[in-house]
Amino acid sequence: MVSQKKNPLLYTELSSWWLLFTPTEEYQEEAAFYTKLFVEKSASPPRTLLELGSGGGNNASFMKNNFQMTLVDRSEDMIQVSQNQNPKCEHIIGDMRTVRLNRLFDGVFIHDAVAYMKSEQDLYDAMRTAYVHCRVGGIALFAPDFVRETFQPSTSHGGIDGAGRGIRYLEFAI
Ligand SMILES: C[S@@+](CC[C@H](N)C(=O)[O-])C[C@H]1O[C@@H](n2cnc3c(N)ncnc32)[C@H](O)[C@@H]1O
Repeated sequence: MVSQKKNPLLYTELSSWWLLFTPTEEYQEEAAFYTKLFVEKSASPPRTLLELGSGGGNNASFMKNNFQMTLVDRSEDMIQVSQNQNPKCEHIIGDMRTVRLNRLFDGVFIHDAVAYMKSEQDLYDAMRTAYVHCRVGGIALFAPDFVRETFQPSTSHGGIDGAGRGIRYLEFAI
């Protein structure tokens, strides 16, 4: 049982805004890049993929065309958003640091959600989860938005209109 109390508002009460905040189509290019990495770097063709911190399932909505995906997120509301756009994917509520599915996958993927691992211990635990779910010769891919070595302060903006409502935001990465 994963407590929902610690999940940010954006991933709970405000989750119905998620796809206006970060529209699925914006993920197409990077999802293609991650797919290519899994396919090209695997010793044998990857079929099953576990994503930890899969959120609204935006990457998965493209990657599911190439892999059988199991999507894990700690927020029930975000799992619901993902289920709506990826009804055929398996969804599991779980914490990437502790979840144990007792099976192996051809690949394990943690996208931007890895940024929520704010201590070395948390990061270690998430990487261990990836390790115990990855078959021998499989690939674990961690893709944070930023890494210290290349970080540049920046501002950006985003958001779109939807049915009867819209959202716009400014982001400061400093
Ligand atoms: C930015 S969203 C991920 C969006 C995702 N990359 C996509 O393609 O839609 C970040 C997600 O990480 C999840 N998250 C944060 N900490 C987590 C943890 N410890 N275990 C599992 N999920 C976590 C949040 O609930 C949220 O849904």
